[in-house]
Amino acid sequence: MSKAGFEFVERAPKAELHIHIEGSLEPDLLLRLAEKNSVVLPYKTLQDVTSAYQFQDLQSFLDLYYLGASVLVDEGDFYELMWRYLCRCRNEGIVHTEIMFDPQTHTRRGVSLETVLSGFSRAIVKAEQEWQQSVLLILCLLRDLPESDAIQTLTDARPLLQQITAVGLDSAEIGNPPAKFRKSFEMASSWGLRKVAHAGEEAGPELIRETLRALAVERIDHGVQCIKDPDLVISLAETKIPLTVCPLSNIRLKVYDRLEQHPILQLLDAGVRVTVNSDDPAYFGGYLMENFRALDRSQGLTEIQARQLVRNSFSGSFLPHNRKTQYLDQLR
Ligand code: ADE
Ligand code: ZN
Repeated sequence: MSKAGFEFVERAPKAELHIHIEGSLEPDLLLRLAEKNSVVLPYKTLQDVTSAYQFQDLQSFLDLYYLGASVLVDEGDFYELMWRYLCRCRNEGIVHTEIMFDPQTHTRRGVSLETVLSGFSRAIVKAEQEWQQSVLLILCLLRDLPESDAIQTLTDARPLLQQITAVGLDSAEIGNPPAKFRKSFEMASSWGLRKVAHAGEEAGPELIRETLRALAVERIDHGVQCIKDPDLVISLAETKIPLTVCPLSNIRLKVYDRLEQHPILQLLDAGVRVTVNSDDPAYFGGYLMENFRALDRSQGLTEIQARQLVRNSFSGSFLPHNRKTQYLDQLR
């Protein structure tokens, strides 16, 4: 089989649009920070951690993901977490990245938003200075908490908004409809934030429709369940609403049994603006290039498909028009 598609992605400058920074917490850093901050975890060794990472569904993952995030306490911890991911970006040719973080996961443990953002910003500024890394931040609201909590989080973040580009919605999808967050998203939008939301990861296509209707988001995170609704696929292709798809995540959370069944290339060929992303790479077995590699091995990525996926990562981003054009011109 030709490797031209994968090799194109390896060489090309790329963007990543769906990564939770807390999901890039590798087991070695997790154990070190737990020890440093005296956080008791049910793991002693790296082997304990990796063998615990066997998930049945989204909720069983979220339980360990929130437990893991509890080792992040001081400014230096947030700096180190961000710095490690940005070094990974440099190694993988991810020239632009839009990074989600979950403030409520930290503030509910008494860690301030200032501490979180100060650590992140120190790493981001260093990467911008050292290798011109481009980074935007997405503040994600946890949909399993009440909307009053989301509004409080946004209000607390208001003085720091120059560091944040977009608002997002994540955590447990089923039982937490988007309409619950209508007010928060309207407020965020009136303050100039762009809007994204997870939808159609586990729950069906109707949740994607509802999310677009209730929150007027510009991008859907995951969205793979749209494949069950051919009219929705046509409408997503026509409106060019990007879907930030995460192949390895969907396997590890049992959305699909095997990557051979994953609909990403079918959606791409139907004209939907899909992108490849890593979601929570420390939990799901790989960063961005590993997702491309797994997709290529299972379905064979043609050079045309590879080029379109990488182009989508820039055209679906929140970069200003001129910066998008500069990157896209490098991909002709
Ligand atoms: N938070 C971190 N990863 C997530 C995912 N895949 N779905 C929903 N919430 C998340
Ligand atoms: Zn996600």
